[in-house]
Amino acid sequence: MDLNVLNPQGPIARSIAQLSWALFSLSGIVYVVVIVALFWALRRTRDESDDSPQTTKRLTRTVAAASAVSACILVALTLTTVFADRGLTQPSGQGAIEVDVIGHMWWWDFRYRDVTPSDWVNSPNELHIPVGVPVVLRVTSQDVIHSFWVPNLVGKRDLVPGQVTYTWIQADKPGVFRGQCAEFCGYQHAHMALLVIAEPVAEFQKWIQHQRQPAPEPATAEQQRGRDLFLGSTCVTCHSIRGTPAGSRIGPELTHVATRRTIAAATLPNTPEHLRSWIANPQAIKPGNRMPPSPLAADDLGAVVAYVRSLQ
Ligand code: CUA
Repeated sequence: MDLNVLNPQGPIARSIAQLSWALFSLSGIVYVVVIVALFWALRRTRDESDDSPQTTKRLTRTVAAASAVSACILVALTLTTVFADRGLTQPSGQGAIEVDVIGHMWWWDFRYRDVTPSDWVNSPNELHIPVGVPVVLRVTSQDVIHSFWVPNLVGKRDLVPGQVTYTWIQADKPGVFRGQCAEFCGYQHAHMALLVIAEPVAEFQKWIQHQRQPAPEPATAEQQRGRDLFLGSTCVTCHSIRGTPAGSRIGPELTHVATRRTIAAATLPNTPEHLRSWIANPQAIKPGNRMPPSPLAADDLGAVVAYVRSLQ
């Protein structure tokens, strides 16, 4: 999974890459022409005709022509930039879906709204999109300025607190693309990553249907004990799990957390071991983040991990 603006995997990233190549190649040509002219001028010796009125006239014409060419190049570059930039704010396809992007210190919330509020889906740090369909992103922040950036799919868009701006994203083919916060937002700015999961439309629909379901009931005694511990502890002051009394929106939604590939904003793979060390002491992994350490005994911690792992 490379983070590469020159390896575009969707229409917006492609227009940005094309613009970069246009700027780069034109600047390259201008650079070579100027350097060749410079060396030619340095090597040339003066001769008698240099001060003649004809030469002065010819030079005036040459300088005027060179200025006109420079002006044309600058206007062309300006127009290309303006059109590329406009393309970034207006989705070109039909049937766009809309997702809210909400920045937090230091994680991402992606919210899929629906006409029925109970069908709204929150998918922290994992943006699922259907392949070939434009997805409009309503972008804002809960706290400080962040910046949404998925190099292979879309350029940077700032998340400004108290303000909603729009951008859009689209992928050509299925794949997992890494994104990164691109605006310094505090101590854990570097650990504010995300995954974009582009999947065929049918699979995307299946995913969203599944995310709308309440959390599965505990299947074992240990998971049951884990749920009781979870609901009886401070976890519920920040997290929500649909189908249980936990309903706070301060931290990431956990209803189907076990289906996600990573934890802690794409900082760690979502494995039982990482989950265990994260719950035990998140401050050791992402110092300064809002989640406090859990003062749980080892077997209680194991039960909570078993319960969270069951949230498929
Ligand atoms: Cu959020 Cu940097």
